[in-house]
Amino acid sequence: MTDARLAAVVVLAAGEGTRMRSATTPKVLHEIGGRSMLGHVVRAARHLAPEHLLVVVGHAREQVTAHLAGLDPAAQAVVQEQQQGTGHAVRVALDTLPALTGTVVVVPGDAPLLTAQTLSELLATHHVARAATTLLTAELPDPTGYGRVVREGGSVAAVVEHKDADAAIRAIREVATSVYAFDAEQLRTALQQLTTDNAQGEQYLTDVVALHRKAGRTVAAHIAESATETMGVNDRVQLAEAGRLLRDRVVAQHQRAGVTVVDPATTWIDIDVRLEPDVTIHPGSQLHGTTAVRAGAVIGPDTTLTDTEVGEQASVVKSHCVGAVIGTGADVGPYTYLRPGTRLGEKSKAGAFVEIKASQVGARSKVPHLSYVGDAVIGERSNIGAATIVVNYDGRDKHGTTVGDDVRVGSDTMLVAPVTVGDGAYTAAGSVITDDVPPGALGVGRARQRNIEGWVARKRPTDQGQP
Ligand code: UD1
Ligand code: CA
Repeated sequence: MTDARLAAVVVLAAGEGTRMRSATTPKVLHEIGGRSMLGHVVRAARHLAPEHLLVVVGHAREQVTAHLAGLDPAAQAVVQEQQQGTGHAVRVALDTLPALTGTVVVVPGDAPLLTAQTLSELLATHHVARAATTLLTAELPDPTGYGRVVREGGSVAAVVEHKDADAAIRAIREVATSVYAFDAEQLRTALQQLTTDNAQGEQYLTDVVALHRKAGRTVAAHIAESATETMGVNDRVQLAEAGRLLRDRVVAQHQRAGVTVVDPATTWIDIDVRLEPDVTIHPGSQLHGTTAVRAGAVIGPDTTLTDTEVGEQASVVKSHCVGAVIGTGADVGPYTYLRPGTRLGEKSKAGAFVEIKASQVGARSKVPHLSYVGDAVIGERSNIGAATIVVNYDGRDKHGTTVGDDVRVGSDTMLVAPVTVGDGAYTAAGSVITDDVPPGALGVGRARQRNIEGWVARKRPTDQGQP
Protein backbone atom coordinates (compact mmCIF):
# COMPACT_ATOMS: atom_id res chain seq x y z
CA MET A 1 0.00 0.00 0.00
CA THR A 2 1.51 3.28 -1.07
CA ASP A 3 1.66 5.88 1.66
CA ALA A 4 0.10 9.02 0.19
CA ARG A 5 1.39 11.60 2.67
CA LEU A 6 3.91 14.07 1.31
CA ALA A 7 6.60 13.42 3.87
CA ALA A 8 9.30 15.66 2.45
CA VAL A 9 10.42 17.83 -0.41
CA VAL A 10 14.18 17.85 -0.98
CA VAL A 11 15.55 20.80 -2.93
CA LEU A 12 19.00 20.29 -4.42
CA ALA A 13 21.08 23.43 -4.08
CA ALA A 14 24.58 22.38 -3.12
CA GLY A 15 26.31 22.69 -6.48
CA GLU A 16 28.57 25.61 -7.30
CA GLY A 17 27.02 26.21 -10.66
CA THR A 18 30.42 26.40 -12.36
CA ARG A 19 28.83 27.24 -15.68
CA MET A 20 27.48 30.53 -14.26
CA ARG A 21 31.12 31.65 -13.86
CA SER A 22 30.31 33.84 -10.87
CA ALA A 23 32.86 34.83 -8.25
CA THR A 24 30.21 36.22 -5.93
CA THR A 25 26.88 34.45 -6.33
CA PRO A 26 26.11 30.73 -6.04
CA LYS A 27 23.93 29.58 -8.93
CA VAL A 28 20.64 29.17 -7.08
CA LEU A 29 20.82 32.73 -5.73
CA HIS A 30 20.78 34.30 -9.19
CA GLU A 31 17.46 36.06 -9.71
CA ILE A 32 14.68 36.19 -12.23
CA GLY A 33 11.45 38.11 -11.77
CA GLY A 34 12.76 39.74 -8.61
CA ARG A 35 13.39 36.51 -6.74
CA SER A 36 16.25 34.02 -6.53
CA MET A 37 15.89 30.74 -8.40
CA LEU A 38 15.93 29.02 -5.04
CA GLY A 39 13.14 31.34 -3.90
CA HIS A 40 10.93 30.30 -6.81
CA VAL A 41 11.56 26.61 -6.19
CA VAL A 42 11.03 26.83 -2.42
CA ARG A 43 7.77 28.69 -2.91
CA ALA A 44 6.44 26.01 -5.29
CA ALA A 45 7.62 23.29 -2.88
CA ARG A 46 5.99 24.97 0.12
CA HIS A 47 2.73 25.07 -1.78
CA LEU A 48 2.57 21.26 -1.54
CA ALA A 49 2.58 21.54 2.28
CA PRO A 50 5.20 18.85 2.93
CA GLU A 51 5.92 17.71 6.47
CA HIS A 52 9.60 18.53 5.91
CA LEU A 53 11.16 20.92 3.44
CA LEU A 54 14.86 20.22 3.16
CA VAL A 55 17.33 22.22 1.10
CA VAL A 56 20.68 20.59 0.42
CA VAL A 57 23.41 23.22 0.59
CA GLY A 58 27.15 22.90 0.07
CA HIS A 59 28.91 25.44 -2.07
CA ALA A 60 28.68 28.90 -0.37
CA ARG A 61 26.54 27.28 2.30
CA GLU A 62 26.54 30.28 4.67
CA GLN A 63 25.26 32.55 1.91
CA VAL A 64 22.62 30.07 0.73
CA THR A 65 21.51 29.16 4.26
CA ALA A 66 21.13 32.82 5.28
CA HIS A 67 19.14 33.47 2.13
CA LEU A 68 16.93 30.46 2.82
CA ALA A 69 16.20 31.68 6.35
CA GLY A 70 14.84 34.88 4.83
CA LEU A 71 12.80 33.01 2.23
CA ASP A 72 11.23 30.32 4.34
CA PRO A 73 12.23 30.12 8.00
CA ALA A 74 10.61 26.69 8.38
CA ALA A 75 12.74 25.14 5.63
CA GLN A 76 15.75 23.22 6.84
CA ALA A 77 19.20 23.44 5.31
CA VAL A 78 21.16 20.19 5.15
CA VAL A 79 24.89 20.38 4.44
CA GLN A 80 26.39 18.17 1.76
CA GLU A 81 30.09 18.59 2.54
CA GLN A 82 31.32 17.45 -0.85
CA GLN A 83 29.27 17.62 -4.00
CA GLN A 84 29.43 13.98 -4.98
CA GLY A 85 26.38 14.07 -7.18
CA THR A 86 22.62 14.49 -7.10
CA GLY A 87 22.06 11.01 -5.68
CA HIS A 88 24.54 11.65 -2.90
CA ALA A 89 22.81 14.97 -2.15
CA VAL A 90 19.44 13.25 -1.66
CA ARG A 91 21.06 10.59 0.49
CA VAL A 92 22.59 13.23 2.77
CA ALA A 93 19.14 14.83 3.13
CA LEU A 94 17.39 11.55 3.93
CA ASP A 95 20.06 10.66 6.49
CA THR A 96 18.78 13.55 8.62
CA LEU A 97 15.33 11.88 8.76
CA PRO A 98 16.12 8.18 9.31
CA ALA A 99 12.56 7.23 10.26
CA LEU A 100 10.95 8.95 7.28
CA THR A 101 8.28 7.04 5.39
CA GLY A 102 5.81 8.15 2.72
CA THR A 103 6.43 10.17 -0.40
CA VAL A 104 9.53 12.24 -1.04
CA VAL A 105 9.62 14.80 -3.83
CA VAL A 106 12.97 15.96 -5.18
CA VAL A 107 13.35 19.21 -7.10
CA PRO A 108 16.52 20.87 -8.37
CA GLY A 109 17.22 24.37 -7.10
CA ASP A 110 17.91 25.54 -10.65
CA ALA A 111 14.42 24.99 -12.13
CA PRO A 112 12.78 28.32 -11.31
CA LEU A 113 9.83 28.01 -13.69
CA LEU A 114 8.43 24.86 -12.14
CA THR A 115 4.91 25.38 -10.79
CA ALA A 116 3.17 23.88 -7.78
CA GLN A 117 0.48 22.74 -10.23
CA THR A 118 2.90 20.52 -12.13
CA LEU A 119 4.32 19.13 -8.89
CA SER A 120 0.77 18.25 -7.77
CA GLU A 121 0.15 16.48 -11.08
CA LEU A 122 3.38 14.53 -10.64
CA LEU A 123 2.23 13.47 -7.15
CA ALA A 124 -1.15 12.40 -8.50
CA THR A 125 0.50 10.20 -11.15
CA HIS A 126 2.83 8.78 -8.51
CA HIS A 127 -0.03 7.82 -6.19
CA VAL A 128 -2.23 6.35 -8.90
CA ALA A 129 0.68 4.24 -10.20
CA ARG A 130 1.71 3.28 -6.64
CA ALA A 131 5.20 3.71 -7.94
CA ALA A 132 8.57 3.52 -6.26
CA THR A 133 9.80 6.28 -8.55
CA THR A 134 7.85 8.69 -10.70
CA LEU A 135 9.89 11.04 -12.80
CA LEU A 136 8.79 14.24 -14.37
CA THR A 137 9.92 14.22 -17.99
CA ALA A 138 9.70 16.73 -20.79
CA GLU A 139 10.05 16.60 -24.54
CA LEU A 140 12.50 19.23 -25.68
CA PRO A 141 13.33 20.34 -29.21
CA ASP A 142 16.96 20.59 -28.10
CA PRO A 143 17.69 18.10 -25.29
CA THR A 144 21.45 18.79 -25.25
CA GLY A 145 22.90 18.49 -21.75
CA TYR A 146 19.93 16.79 -20.15
CA GLY A 147 19.62 13.17 -19.03
CA ARG A 148 17.68 11.14 -21.64
CA VAL A 149 14.72 8.94 -20.78
CA VAL A 150 15.21 5.45 -22.19
CA ARG A 151 11.94 3.57 -22.56
CA GLU A 152 11.42 -0.12 -23.17
CA GLY A 153 8.03 -1.13 -24.47
CA GLY A 154 6.72 2.30 -23.51
CA SER A 155 7.75 2.25 -19.87
CA VAL A 156 10.81 3.97 -18.47
CA ALA A 157 13.83 1.71 -18.11
CA ALA A 158 16.64 4.14 -17.36
CA VAL A 159 17.90 7.69 -17.51
CA VAL A 160 21.22 8.19 -19.24
CA GLU A 161 23.14 11.41 -18.71
CA HIS A 162 24.12 13.35 -21.82
CA LYS A 163 27.82 12.86 -21.07
CA ASP A 164 27.32 9.08 -20.80
CA ALA A 165 25.06 8.77 -23.83
CA ASP A 166 25.90 7.41 -27.28
CA ALA A 167 24.51 8.95 -30.46
CA ALA A 168 21.37 6.80 -30.44
CA ILE A 169 20.50 7.84 -26.89
CA ARG A 170 21.39 11.47 -27.55
CA ALA A 171 18.78 11.40 -30.33
CA ILE A 172 16.05 10.85 -27.70
CA ARG A 173 14.17 14.08 -27.04
CA GLU A 174 12.43 13.05 -23.84
CA VAL A 175 14.54 14.26 -20.92
CA ALA A 176 14.68 13.84 -17.16
CA THR A 177 13.90 17.12 -15.44
CA SER A 178 15.50 16.21 -12.10
CA VAL A 179 12.04 16.36 -10.53
CA TYR A 180 10.83 13.15 -8.93
CA ALA A 181 8.39 11.61 -6.53
CA PHE A 182 9.75 8.60 -4.63
CA ASP A 183 8.62 6.18 -2.01
CA ALA A 184 10.96 7.08 0.87
CA GLU A 185 11.97 3.58 1.91
CA GLN A 186 12.52 2.31 -1.60
CA LEU A 187 14.47 5.45 -2.43
CA ARG A 188 16.72 4.87 0.58
CA THR A 189 17.43 1.31 -0.54
CA ALA A 190 18.34 2.38 -4.07
CA LEU A 191 20.53 5.29 -2.93
CA GLN A 192 22.70 2.81 -1.00
CA GLN A 193 23.41 1.00 -4.27
CA LEU A 194 24.56 4.00 -6.32
CA THR A 195 28.01 3.85 -7.86
CA THR A 196 30.26 6.48 -9.39
CA ASP A 197 30.86 4.42 -12.49
CA ASN A 198 30.05 7.16 -15.02
CA ALA A 199 31.54 10.01 -17.04
CA GLN A 200 31.41 12.49 -14.17
CA GLY A 201 32.43 10.10 -11.37
CA GLU A 202 29.35 11.13 -9.38
CA GLN A 203 26.48 9.36 -7.65
CA TYR A 204 23.65 10.11 -10.04
CA LEU A 205 20.12 10.35 -8.70
CA THR A 206 19.00 9.37 -12.19
CA ASP A 207 20.41 5.87 -11.62
CA VAL A 208 17.67 5.19 -9.07
CA VAL A 209 15.36 4.72 -12.05
CA ALA A 210 17.29 1.74 -13.45
CA LEU A 211 17.90 0.31 -9.95
CA HIS A 212 14.19 0.33 -9.16
CA ARG A 213 13.37 -1.07 -12.54
CA LYS A 214 15.87 -3.94 -12.09
CA ALA A 215 14.49 -4.66 -8.61
CA GLY A 216 11.05 -5.05 -10.15
CA ARG A 217 9.67 -1.87 -8.59
CA THR A 218 7.19 0.30 -10.42
CA VAL A 219 8.71 3.24 -12.26
CA ALA A 220 6.23 5.76 -13.63
CA ALA A 221 6.70 8.91 -15.66
CA HIS A 222 4.69 12.08 -15.86
CA ILE A 223 5.29 14.11 -19.01
CA ALA A 224 5.17 17.81 -18.24
CA GLU A 225 2.49 19.66 -20.16
CA SER A 226 4.78 22.65 -20.59
CA ALA A 227 8.33 21.64 -21.45
CA THR A 228 9.65 25.14 -20.80
CA GLU A 229 8.46 24.98 -17.20
CA THR A 230 10.98 22.30 -16.39
CA MET A 231 14.02 24.02 -17.85
CA GLY A 232 17.15 23.91 -15.74
CA VAL A 233 19.36 26.99 -15.60
CA ASN A 234 23.04 26.18 -15.84
CA ASP A 235 24.51 29.32 -17.38
CA ARG A 236 23.61 32.97 -17.83
CA VAL A 237 22.21 32.45 -21.31
CA GLN A 238 19.66 30.06 -19.80
CA LEU A 239 19.12 32.47 -16.89
CA ALA A 240 18.05 35.19 -19.31
CA GLU A 241 15.89 32.74 -21.23
CA ALA A 242 14.14 31.64 -18.02
CA GLY A 243 13.72 35.32 -17.14
CA ARG A 244 11.99 35.97 -20.46
CA LEU A 245 9.71 32.96 -20.04
CA LEU A 246 8.79 34.05 -16.52
CA ARG A 247 8.20 37.61 -17.74
CA ASP A 248 5.78 36.33 -20.40
CA ARG A 249 3.96 34.24 -17.81
CA VAL A 250 3.64 37.11 -15.33
CA VAL A 251 2.58 39.65 -17.97
CA ALA A 252 -0.05 37.26 -19.35
CA GLN A 253 -1.48 36.73 -15.86
CA HIS A 254 -1.87 40.49 -15.42
CA GLN A 255 -3.32 40.91 -18.89
CA ARG A 256 -5.93 38.24 -18.21
CA ALA A 257 -6.79 40.08 -14.98
CA GLY A 258 -7.48 43.32 -16.86
CA VAL A 259 -4.15 45.13 -17.16
CA THR A 260 -3.19 46.62 -20.53
CA VAL A 261 0.44 45.84 -21.28
CA VAL A 262 1.21 47.51 -24.58
CA ASP A 263 4.50 45.71 -25.22
CA PRO A 264 5.09 42.57 -23.15
CA ALA A 265 8.58 42.13 -24.59
CA THR A 266 9.82 45.34 -22.93
CA THR A 267 7.74 45.18 -19.76
CA TRP A 268 9.31 43.50 -16.73
CA ILE A 269 7.11 42.87 -13.73
CA ASP A 270 8.47 41.17 -10.62
CA ILE A 271 6.35 38.37 -9.28
CA ASP A 272 5.20 40.13 -6.10
CA VAL A 273 4.03 43.29 -7.88
CA ARG A 274 0.29 43.99 -7.58
CA LEU A 275 -1.67 45.62 -10.37
CA GLU A 276 -5.37 46.44 -10.38
CA PRO A 277 -7.59 46.16 -13.45
CA ASP A 278 -7.45 48.96 -16.03
CA VAL A 279 -3.87 49.84 -15.26
CA THR A 280 -2.02 50.64 -18.50
CA ILE A 281 1.67 49.94 -18.86
CA HIS A 282 3.52 51.47 -21.79
CA PRO A 283 6.71 50.04 -23.33
CA GLY A 284 10.05 50.03 -21.58
CA SER A 285 8.70 49.82 -18.05
CA GLN A 286 10.01 47.81 -15.11
CA LEU A 287 8.00 47.20 -11.96
CA HIS A 288 10.05 45.80 -9.13
CA GLY A 289 9.75 44.54 -5.59
CA THR A 290 6.54 45.29 -3.75
CA THR A 291 5.29 47.89 -6.22
CA ALA A 292 1.50 48.21 -6.29
CA VAL A 293 -0.50 50.15 -8.87
CA ARG A 294 -4.17 51.00 -8.43
CA ALA A 295 -6.93 50.98 -11.00
CA GLY A 296 -6.74 53.31 -13.97
CA ALA A 297 -3.17 54.45 -13.40
CA VAL A 298 -0.89 54.82 -16.42
CA ILE A 299 2.74 53.77 -16.15
CA GLY A 300 5.42 54.53 -18.73
CA PRO A 301 6.77 54.60 -21.26
CA ASP A 302 10.28 54.04 -19.92
CA THR A 303 9.50 54.04 -16.24
CA THR A 304 11.07 52.06 -13.42
CA LEU A 305 9.14 51.64 -10.18
CA THR A 306 10.71 49.87 -7.22
CA ASP A 307 8.73 49.29 -4.01
CA THR A 308 6.46 52.14 -5.07
CA GLU A 309 2.71 52.64 -4.61
CA VAL A 310 0.79 54.38 -7.35
CA GLY A 311 -2.74 55.63 -6.67
CA GLU A 312 -5.83 55.39 -8.87
CA GLN A 313 -5.72 57.34 -12.12
CA ALA A 314 -2.19 58.58 -11.46
CA SER A 315 0.28 58.91 -14.32
CA VAL A 316 4.02 58.20 -14.20
CA VAL A 317 5.88 58.94 -17.42
CA LYS A 318 9.60 58.29 -18.10
CA SER A 319 10.50 58.32 -14.44
CA HIS A 320 12.50 56.43 -11.84
CA CYS A 321 10.79 55.93 -8.48
CA VAL A 322 12.05 54.02 -5.46
CA GLY A 323 10.14 53.62 -2.22
CA ALA A 324 7.66 56.36 -3.14
CA VAL A 325 3.92 56.72 -2.58
CA ILE A 326 2.16 58.48 -5.44
CA GLY A 327 -1.35 59.70 -4.64
CA THR A 328 -4.61 59.31 -6.50
CA GLY A 329 -4.61 61.25 -9.75
CA ALA A 330 -1.07 62.55 -9.23
CA ASP A 331 1.08 63.38 -12.21
CA VAL A 332 4.75 62.37 -12.34
CA GLY A 333 7.29 62.96 -15.08
CA PRO A 334 8.72 63.03 -17.57
CA TYR A 335 12.26 62.65 -16.17
CA THR A 336 11.38 62.63 -12.50
CA TYR A 337 13.34 60.88 -9.75
CA LEU A 338 11.37 60.01 -6.64
CA ARG A 339 13.45 58.55 -3.83
CA PRO A 340 12.50 56.68 -0.65
CA GLY A 341 10.11 58.45 1.67
CA THR A 342 8.48 60.56 -1.02
CA ARG A 343 4.72 60.91 -0.58
CA LEU A 344 2.82 62.75 -3.25
CA GLY A 345 -0.72 63.78 -2.30
CA GLU A 346 -3.87 63.48 -4.32
CA LYS A 347 -3.73 65.31 -7.68
CA SER A 348 -0.27 66.66 -6.91
CA LYS A 349 2.47 66.97 -9.49
CA ALA A 350 6.18 66.25 -9.71
CA GLY A 351 7.27 67.39 -13.14
CA ALA A 352 10.28 67.36 -15.43
CA PHE A 353 13.77 67.14 -13.94
CA VAL A 354 12.49 67.10 -10.39
CA GLU A 355 14.11 65.01 -7.65
CA ILE A 356 12.26 64.45 -4.39
CA LYS A 357 13.51 62.57 -1.33
CA ALA A 358 11.92 61.92 2.09
CA SER A 359 9.33 64.61 1.55
CA GLN A 360 5.59 65.07 1.47
CA VAL A 361 3.87 67.06 -1.22
CA GLY A 362 0.30 67.84 -0.18
CA ALA A 363 -2.85 67.41 -2.23
CA ARG A 364 -2.95 69.55 -5.40
CA SER A 365 0.50 70.99 -4.74
CA LYS A 366 2.92 71.16 -7.63
CA VAL A 367 6.65 70.90 -8.13
CA PRO A 368 6.51 71.27 -11.87
CA HIS A 369 10.06 71.90 -13.12
CA LEU A 370 13.76 71.47 -12.36
CA SER A 371 13.68 71.25 -8.57
CA TYR A 372 15.25 69.35 -5.71
CA VAL A 373 13.07 68.75 -2.66
CA GLY A 374 14.58 66.87 0.30
CA ASP A 375 13.38 66.38 3.89
CA ALA A 376 10.48 68.78 3.35
CA VAL A 377 6.80 68.88 4.14
CA ILE A 378 4.78 70.87 1.63
CA GLY A 379 1.12 71.62 2.41
CA GLU A 380 -1.84 71.62 0.05
CA ARG A 381 -2.41 73.70 -3.12
CA SER A 382 1.08 75.17 -3.00
CA ASN A 383 3.20 75.83 -6.06
CA ILE A 384 6.94 75.43 -6.02
CA GLY A 385 8.38 77.62 -8.78
CA ALA A 386 10.74 76.31 -11.43
CA ALA A 387 14.28 75.59 -10.29
CA THR A 388 13.49 75.85 -6.58
CA ILE A 389 16.01 73.99 -4.47
CA VAL A 390 15.49 72.85 -0.91
CA VAL A 391 18.93 73.27 0.63
CA ASN A 392 18.60 70.47 3.16
CA TYR A 393 22.26 69.67 3.78
CA ASP A 394 24.72 71.96 5.49
CA GLY A 395 27.64 69.72 4.66
CA ARG A 396 27.31 67.82 7.90
CA ASP A 397 23.65 67.39 8.81
CA LYS A 398 20.30 67.24 7.05
CA HIS A 399 17.57 69.69 8.13
CA GLY A 400 13.84 69.87 7.55
CA THR A 401 11.83 72.45 5.62
CA THR A 402 8.14 73.22 6.01
CA VAL A 403 6.04 74.92 3.35
CA GLY A 404 2.44 75.62 4.33
CA ASP A 405 -0.81 75.51 2.34
CA ASP A 406 -1.48 77.85 -0.61
CA VAL A 407 2.12 79.00 -0.79
CA ARG A 408 3.72 80.44 -3.95
CA VAL A 409 7.44 79.79 -3.92
CA GLY A 410 8.98 81.99 -6.64
CA SER A 411 11.16 80.46 -9.31
CA ASP A 412 14.77 79.79 -8.42
CA THR A 413 14.22 80.11 -4.69
CA MET A 414 16.75 78.49 -2.33
CA LEU A 415 14.96 77.32 0.81
CA VAL A 416 17.86 77.00 3.24
CA ALA A 417 16.85 74.48 5.90
CA PRO A 418 15.78 74.52 8.63
CA VAL A 419 13.18 77.00 7.44
CA THR A 420 9.40 77.43 7.37
CA VAL A 421 7.27 79.26 4.83
CA GLY A 422 3.85 79.97 6.37
CA ASP A 423 0.41 79.39 4.87
CA GLY A 424 -0.43 81.65 1.96
CA ALA A 425 3.07 83.19 1.88
CA TYR A 426 5.09 84.02 -1.26
CA THR A 427 8.79 84.12 -1.92
CA ALA A 428 10.30 86.42 -4.52
CA ALA A 429 11.92 84.72 -7.49
CA GLY A 430 15.63 84.18 -7.02
CA SER A 431 15.48 84.50 -3.24
CA VAL A 432 17.76 82.74 -0.81
CA ILE A 433 15.37 82.16 2.08
CA THR A 434 17.29 81.65 5.31
CA ASP A 435 14.68 82.95 7.78
CA ASP A 436 11.11 81.81 8.29
CA VAL A 437 8.48 83.59 6.17
CA PRO A 438 5.32 84.32 8.21
CA PRO A 439 1.88 83.37 6.85
CA GLY A 440 0.69 85.76 4.15
CA ALA A 441 4.08 87.53 3.87
CA LEU A 442 6.36 87.92 0.85
CA GLY A 443 9.86 86.72 1.60
CA VAL A 444 12.51 88.54 -0.41
CA GLY A 445 16.09 87.44 -0.06
CA ARG A 446 18.04 88.91 -2.96
CA ALA A 447 19.99 92.02 -3.93
CA ARG A 448 17.91 94.80 -5.45
CA GLN A 449 18.62 95.41 -9.13
CA ARG A 450 20.20 98.70 -10.23
CA ASN A 451 20.67 99.83 -13.84
CA ILE A 452 23.76 101.80 -14.81
CA GLU A 453 22.74 104.22 -17.56
CA GLY A 454 25.11 104.63 -20.55
CA TRP A 455 27.46 101.89 -19.30
CA VAL A 456 27.85 100.15 -22.67
CA ALA A 457 28.68 103.34 -24.58
CA ARG A 458 31.37 104.19 -22.03
CA LYS A 459 32.88 100.77 -21.45
CA ARG A 460 32.29 98.89 -24.74
CA PRO A 461 31.92 101.53 -27.44
CA THR A 462 32.68 99.04 -30.22
CA ASP A 463 29.67 96.87 -29.17
CA GLN A 464 27.27 99.62 -30.25
CA GLY A 465 24.79 98.45 -32.84
CA GLN A 466 25.94 94.82 -32.60
CA PRO A 467 23.33 92.13 -32.08
C1 UD1 B 1 20.59 17.07 -13.80
C2 UD1 B 1 20.24 15.59 -14.04
C3 UD1 B 1 19.79 15.42 -15.48
C4 UD1 B 1 18.62 16.32 -15.78
C5 UD1 B 1 18.96 17.78 -15.43
C6 UD1 B 1 17.70 18.62 -15.50
C7 UD1 B 1 21.62 14.11 -12.63
C8 UD1 B 1 22.83 13.28 -12.57
N1 UD1 B 1 21.40 14.77 -13.77
O1 UD1 B 1 21.71 17.39 -14.63
O2 UD1 B 1 19.38 14.07 -15.67
O3 UD1 B 1 18.30 16.23 -17.16
O4 UD1 B 1 19.46 17.87 -14.10
O5 UD1 B 1 17.98 19.98 -15.32
O6 UD1 B 1 20.87 14.15 -11.68
N2 UD1 B 1 23.49 19.29 -6.78
C9 UD1 B 1 23.70 19.09 -5.43
N3 UD1 B 1 24.73 18.28 -5.04
C10 UD1 B 1 25.53 17.67 -5.94
C11 UD1 B 1 25.29 17.86 -7.33
C12 UD1 B 1 24.26 18.68 -7.71
O7 UD1 B 1 23.00 19.63 -4.58
O8 UD1 B 1 26.43 16.93 -5.50
C13 UD1 B 1 22.39 20.17 -7.17
C14 UD1 B 1 22.83 21.36 -8.00
O9 UD1 B 1 23.09 22.46 -7.16
C15 UD1 B 1 21.60 21.63 -8.90
C16 UD1 B 1 20.96 20.25 -9.04
O10 UD1 B 1 21.51 19.45 -8.01
O11 UD1 B 1 20.69 22.52 -8.28
C17 UD1 B 1 21.25 19.64 -10.39
O12 UD1 B 1 22.65 19.58 -10.59
P1 UD1 B 1 23.30 19.99 -11.97
O13 UD1 B 1 24.77 19.88 -11.85
O14 UD1 B 1 22.74 21.26 -12.45
O15 UD1 B 1 22.78 18.77 -12.88
P2 UD1 B 1 22.59 18.75 -14.45
O16 UD1 B 1 23.88 18.52 -15.11
O17 UD1 B 1 21.80 19.91 -14.89
CA1 CA C 1 20.99 21.73 -13.91
